[in-house]
Amino acid sequence: MDALATVVFIFSYVFFLLRISTAVDTITVNQYIRDGETITSAGGTFELGFFSPGDSKNRYLGIWYKKVAPRTVVWVANRESPLTDSSGVLKVTQQGILVVINGTNGILWNSNSSRSAQDPKAQLLESGNLVMRNGNDGDPENFLWQSFDYPCDTLLPGMKRGRNRVTGLDRYLSSWKSADDPSKGNFTYGMDLSGFPQLFLRNGLAVKFRAGPWNGVRFSGIPQLTNNSVYTFDYVSNEKEIYFIYSLVNSSVIMRAVLTPDGYSRRFTWTDQKNEWTLYSTSQRDDCDNYAICGVNGICKINQSPNCECMKGFRPKFQSNWDMAYWSDGCVRSTPLDCQKGDGFVKYSGVKLPDTRSSWFNESMNLKECASLCLSNCSCTAYANSDIRGGGSGCLLWFGDLIDIRDFTQNGQEFYVRMAAADLDALSSLNSSSKKKKKQVIVISISITGIVLLSLVLTLYVLKKRKRQLKRRGK
Ligand SMILES: *[C@@H]1O[C@H](CO)[C@@H](O)[C@H](O)[C@H]1NC(C)=O
Ligand SMILES: *[C@@H]1O[C@H](CO)[C@@H](O)[C@H](O)[C@H]1NC(C)=O
Repeated sequence: MDALATVVFIFSYVFFLLRISTAVDTITVNQYIRDGETITSAGGTFELGFFSPGDSKNRYLGIWYKKVAPRTVVWVANRESPLTDSSGVLKVTQQGILVVINGTNGILWNSNSSRSAQDPKAQLLESGNLVMRNGNDGDPENFLWQSFDYPCDTLLPGMKRGRNRVTGLDRYLSSWKSADDPSKGNFTYGMDLSGFPQLFLRNGLAVKFRAGPWNGVRFSGIPQLTNNSVYTFDYVSNEKEIYFIYSLVNSSVIMRAVLTPDGYSRRFTWTDQKNEWTLYSTSQRDDCDNYAICGVNGICKINQSPNCECMKGFRPKFQSNWDMAYWSDGCVRSTPLDCQKGDGFVKYSGVKLPDTRSSWFNESMNLKECASLCLSNCSCTAYANSDIRGGGSGCLLWFGDLIDIRDFTQNGQEFYVRMAAADLDALSSLNSSSKKKKKQVIVISISITGIVLLSLVLTLYVLKKRKRQLKRRGK
């Protein structure tokens, strides 16, 4: 009897040693993760377990960087239903569902997958993705469930931000309430599919920052999103999915994009030398990035005081408010459009395209077709290429007021705003001293000289011919 007990003891001790010495990244149906225990991804980058954020005493199941201190959490399971003690357990059910239970077996959170499972296993991948799959499934990408489909405040390399158009799954970031509370705060950052799709950062329902539509190269409102040596990015839009994704050029770099509790979209890199997160970029850069700060038909210019001005041919709706630097009422047309008499367009360059929520688009038209389509529809107020690559393609049409336009010093876009013919004439005479006008004058005078010369030559030729004919007749 004693010998048996010893053998059992040795066996369980060896099992225990094995369990801590080989980095375990998988949980099967018969295994639990108790508060205090963790699993680690195969390469040692991410760790999953229970934690308390900031000064909070509550316990949450989450994923964090194993090598980064202070602990930086990238995903939280039970963010809306914390444990108040350390009795939490993570289990995998026979049905392939992850559940977090408390000391009295109350279910605080579950992964709610509807697909049927066989010998399910949960695994923490090196990417930071916690996935559930069938034990006998040969396809490493065939997940019953994955945490990357349910982002919290952090977008890791390889995560999709956007929609699955078939299932309706919407992957968007939502801020923590505070550094001590991972429950959903006020801010979200995700794709909006009304009109031409755009990326919006919202405070509740209100848009706080509009990254805008994808123009083939970047989001129209994020000119700083350019090719770089640290990460690559891609935008995919087809009938199944629409999303933004980024990947690291060098996989040893640690980078995360986070939506902060105060509503800023920030990208950080970890530097071992400094032992801290370095701010790499922020989506919102200045006051002009506050949504619609200049009201409708206004344009924001950050290097100008005041920042707001009305677009050409528009004037402040309430001049007295405008003079007090209250711009939200925006601008109205000085001269109403007259579709019958024939309107024209003014070109704007180096700007962020207006809100496209009520726009219409066609990705195979060219700019010329786009212009004439807009002109032929009396309620069309502006047009632009939807894709700026290779000299531009596709057609975007706006109807009604133009909202949230700003000036960029680099990587801005072009668009064309409808104007009454009278305003266009006024604008061109205003510009009469500009070089462009001079050029036009020169071109015109050159062509007049040309015509005069040509007629002279022709007249001479005709006269000569006539003379010859007369001579012949005279013979
Ligand atoms: C466990 O969770 C259940 C359901 O959420 C709850 O009713 C119960 O009070 C919790 N028990 C403890 C000890 O926290
Ligand atoms: C699970 O998901 C379905 C829809 O996919 C939803 O109707 C249901 O309420 C969810 N259940 C839980 C417990 O979250």
